[in-house]
Amino acid sequence: MSKPGDYTAVRRDIVAQLKKPDYDDGSAGPIFVRLAWHSAGTYDAETDTGGSNGAGMRYEAEGGDPANAGLQHGRAFLEPVKEKHPWITYSDLWTLAGVVAVKELGGPEVEWQPGRTDLVDDSKVPSRGRLPDGAQGADHLRFIFYRMGFNDQEIVALAGGHNMGRCHIDRSGFHGPWVNNPTRFSNQFFNLLLKLKWTPKTLENGVQQFVHVDPDAEEGDEQLMMLPTDVALTTDPKFRVWVEKYAADKDLFFDHFAKAFAKLVELGIQRNGHGAIVNTDNVKGGYLSAPKKSNTPTGSSKGSGGGCPRARL
Ligand code: HEM
Repeated sequence: MSKPGDYTAVRRDIVAQLKKPDYDDGSAGPIFVRLAWHSAGTYDAETDTGGSNGAGMRYEAEGGDPANAGLQHGRAFLEPVKEKHPWITYSDLWTLAGVVAVKELGGPEVEWQPGRTDLVDDSKVPSRGRLPDGAQGADHLRFIFYRMGFNDQEIVALAGGHNMGRCHIDRSGFHGPWVNNPTRFSNQFFNLLLKLKWTPKTLENGVQQFVHVDPDAEEGDEQLMMLPTDVALTTDPKFRVWVEKYAADKDLFFDHFAKAFAKLVELGIQRNGHGAIVNTDNVKGGYLSAPKKSNTPTGSSKGSGGGCPRARL
């Protein structure tokens, strides 16, 4: 066991978990980023509920939400890290894993501070349906992200998370990667959104997405895809301004992504001038790290149809 508070040691052990030759494109990085984002993206600024405190996905109410289908793999990949550092909270571990993965996949350094506490039961797990539905458009994106306190520029920067990873038919119902190298963080997602022709395609499960039909594709080449929400970033004029800026200027995108992602993983967290978290749960209950869970993925593995929150088991 490491010394409590030795986040350098935790970071090192998260890095050691990234390489996964038999999983997806060979890296756990993308699923760590999605885990961090979904652990925080439930925040509702008006009621000050949800957010990155709590690690509610340990409970069926949140972990079994079809919007979180597949994240059990990310959580299970992090169990050996929890085992070595039992003092860390799951909420800190999951958010830190996302931040470490962004950097290790070639992205920017994202500011991260510890101190989140884990819920002791599911009474404060946020209601389902707070995460975005990839089948929808610009209005929906604004509805979801304004609720968290983000603006148009931050929405586009965050959507750049789709430079990493892929969609899985048995998780969201969508299929395929957004970019040619889904384990390398870059601004390629924005370049491809603008440069390539995106054609609507209805998959066998009835789900609609956009694909690039490449006339020069060779046998075995994987077709690139975009979600309806991704394409909406180019058809909405206010979003499009930022897509164009990020496609043209990788450094600007990295800078804005780092700031928006740092804000995301702090959603629902209140700190005093010394960085200590002063949320009621933390103050009353103290720093609470939940006991380790199983190393085997548990929870919802399937979601299908329509997109994240609408998907049904
Ligand atoms: C803008 C609204 C968003 C929508 C509608 C959306 C939707 C989706 C969907 C449908 C998937 C596929 C899940 C699967 O089948 O495995 C996915 C994957 C992913 N998303 Fe998003 N997402 C959004 C925002 C974000 C944000 C803000 C980030 C991070 C900054 C992010 C990072 C990722 C990553 C890394 C994956 C790939 C996971 C993997 O490879 O397993 N997404 N997203």
